[in-house]
Amino acid sequence: MKRLVAVATSLVLAGSLVACGGDKPKPSASSDSITMGFAQVGAESGWRTANTKSIQETAKTAGIELKFSDAQQKQENQIKSIRSFIQQKVDVIAFSPVVETGWDTVLMEAKRANIPVVLTDRAVDSKDTSLYKTFLGSDFVVEGKKAGEWLVKEGDAADVNKDGSIKVVELQGTTGAAPAIDRKKGFEDAMKANPKITIAASQTGDFTRDGGKKVMESFLKSQKNIDVVFAHNDDMGLGAIEAIEAAGLKPGKDIQIISIDAVKDGMTALAAGKINYIVECNPLLGPQLMDLAKKVVAGESVPARVLTEETTFDQAAAKAALPSRQY
Ligand code: AHR
Repeated sequence: MKRLVAVATSLVLAGSLVACGGDKPKPSASSDSITMGFAQVGAESGWRTANTKSIQETAKTAGIELKFSDAQQKQENQIKSIRSFIQQKVDVIAFSPVVETGWDTVLMEAKRANIPVVLTDRAVDSKDTSLYKTFLGSDFVVEGKKAGEWLVKEGDAADVNKDGSIKVVELQGTTGAAPAIDRKKGFEDAMKANPKITIAASQTGDFTRDGGKKVMESFLKSQKNIDVVFAHNDDMGLGAIEAIEAAGLKPGKDIQIISIDAVKDGMTALAAGKINYIVECNPLLGPQLMDLAKKVVAGESVPARVLTEETTFDQAAAKAALPSRQY
C-alpha cells in the first residue's frame, strides 16, 4: 500500500520538458463517465501481468470504464484495437507500444477524432509529439546503465572464469521495443568504464521465459567461458537459470546473472543466490495512468513526460524486500 501511495505521488517532471495542454475538453467528460481504451502489449512476462492487474484494478477504483485488449506482442493487433477504440468513440486511449516505430498514421487518426492518447510504459519514435498527450513510464536507458554500473563495480569478482576478461552474453527484449533498445544502450555506455567487459553474444528472447531459456541454451553451446548473463528482464533471466542448471552449472556462481524488473519470481531467485543483481522496473502504473487520463479528458495540462521511481536490489536487499513484495 505504502508503495502504491509512493508511486501515485511520484509524478516527476523531467528536466526542461514542457507541459502539454489538452485540446477542447469533451463536453460530457467528467471523472465518473470516462471510458478508456487500453491496448496492452500482451502477457509475455510477470511484469506485464502485474502491469495489467494494476491498470484493471485502478480503473475500477477510479470509476473509469476500461475497454482492454491484449495484442499478443503484435503491432498489427494493437493498431486494430486502437482503430476500434476510435470507432467506439472512447474518451481516452492509452497503450504500451510493442515496438517504437510505425505509429504515426493511427495516432493521427486518433488526433483527428479528437481522442487524447496517453503512452504508458513504452515510447514511440514519432517526431510529432502532438500525437500524444504524455508518456508515463520508466527511463529504460537509466535501467540498463544501472545494470552496467553494477558490473563495473563488481570488477574482477565478475571474472568468474579467471581468464582476465569479463565475458557477457546478452538476452535482449523484443526486437524494436523501447526497453530492448534503451537497456542495451545504457548497459553498453556504462560498461565502457571497464575495458575487460565485452559482450560476446546478444540475441532476442522476446521478454519471455521460454525465449530466454532457448537463447541461453544456444549460447552455452556456442560460447566458451561465459562469465555473466545480462537479461533485459527477469523472465528471460529465469529461463537462463533453467538452461544453466540443465548444463550442470550453478547460476549466480559459475555464471553471474543481472536482470531487470524485480518481479516476485526474479526476487526469489535473487534471494536464493541464483541471480546476482536486479534493477527494478515498476509495473504499478495504474494510479498514475488514471490520474493523467482524467486530466487529459478534462482538458487540463499534464507534463509531457512522467517518470516512475525505481530502485535496485542485490541479494541481501532482495531477502529483506521479498516478504512485502506486491508483484
Ligand atoms: O516494457 C517493460 C518490459 O516489458 C518489462 O521489463 C518486461 O518484463 C516486459 O515484458
